[in-house]
Amino acid sequence: MTDVLAVGSPDQKSREALAELGWTHVESLDAAQALDEETRKGVKAIAFFGHSPFAGAQMEAFPALGLIANFGVGYDAINVGDASARGIKVTNTPDVLNDDVADLAVAMLLDFCRDMRGAEAHVRSGDWGKKGPHPLQRKMSGQKAGILGMGRIGREIADRLAAFKMEMHYHARSEKETPGWTFHADPVALAREVDFLVIALVGGPATEGYVSKEVIEALGPTGVLINISRGTTVDEEALIEALQKGTIQGAGLDVFLNEPNPDPRFLSLENAVLQPHQASATHETRAAMGQLQRDNVAAFLAGKDLLTPVN
Ligand code: 8YV
Repeated sequence: MTDVLAVGSPDQKSREALAELGWTHVESLDAAQALDEETRKGVKAIAFFGHSPFAGAQMEAFPALGLIANFGVGYDAINVGDASARGIKVTNTPDVLNDDVADLAVAMLLDFCRDMRGAEAHVRSGDWGKKGPHPLQRKMSGQKAGILGMGRIGREIADRLAAFKMEMHYHARSEKETPGWTFHADPVALAREVDFLVIALVGGPATEGYVSKEVIEALGPTGVLINISRGTTVDEEALIEALQKGTIQGAGLDVFLNEPNPDPRFLSLENAVLQPHQASATHETRAAMGQLQRDNVAAFLAGKDLLTPVN
């Protein structure tokens, strides 16, 4: 038994690192709570993987717990208030994934506009030769983009879309220093103004349903919604209805309310690009996230300052 318990489903790279460190590993919080009392009492730090709710009730099972080191920048699954009340520190893995997440947001938008998947199927099926050219698609460059949430990831997305010669608009809690981009105090006004709306909000109760039916409707019949934040930030029912009725043109979604089994109505929508919450899922970035998580655990065990504390 070590002082550190890894909980959840790490990818292959992290699994190898955990095994090398000799950390005990269980696949879920339920399994962690089912460990024998002596083992639970010895746990000083939990390396947490995944998105299942981790609140006070689960923390109680580990009386010596002092750190929850989250694998991911978004720590909405962890009740930080409950952790702080118990003197438990929480860390996350910010910044190292910004590029990948921004890349995927752009990729989904490009894919949606140019129908990369449909066009490839057109080649593979032989339809190009048999039926002629693939239908014309929508130009992405030079249109109006809106970013909802101008944090570190939002900023990376905005920088990329600006390089596609787009007119940039954004909504955030406060106005930022940006190169001539337009700030909108109201998300509905932002959606009304732009062709493409990219959601880069933090998750958690404060942003639940922030992208409301009204915001989605304001995007209009040529609007495209991209979400790389959390499924919770969007009124999913309103989004499905808008996609079904064509009141918005389409969507690119890497996140859903019910992961990994999104609402089945998404699966038959042809105007949505669907991704399996894989924005940070490259070898390079997952290695960096794992390293940062382990460095936080090592700092904690050595009594040093945490690298990326949340509370
Ligand atoms: C996940 C993410 O952490 O960083 C985040 O907030 O959503 C992702 O990088 C990753 O899917 C592992 O759960």
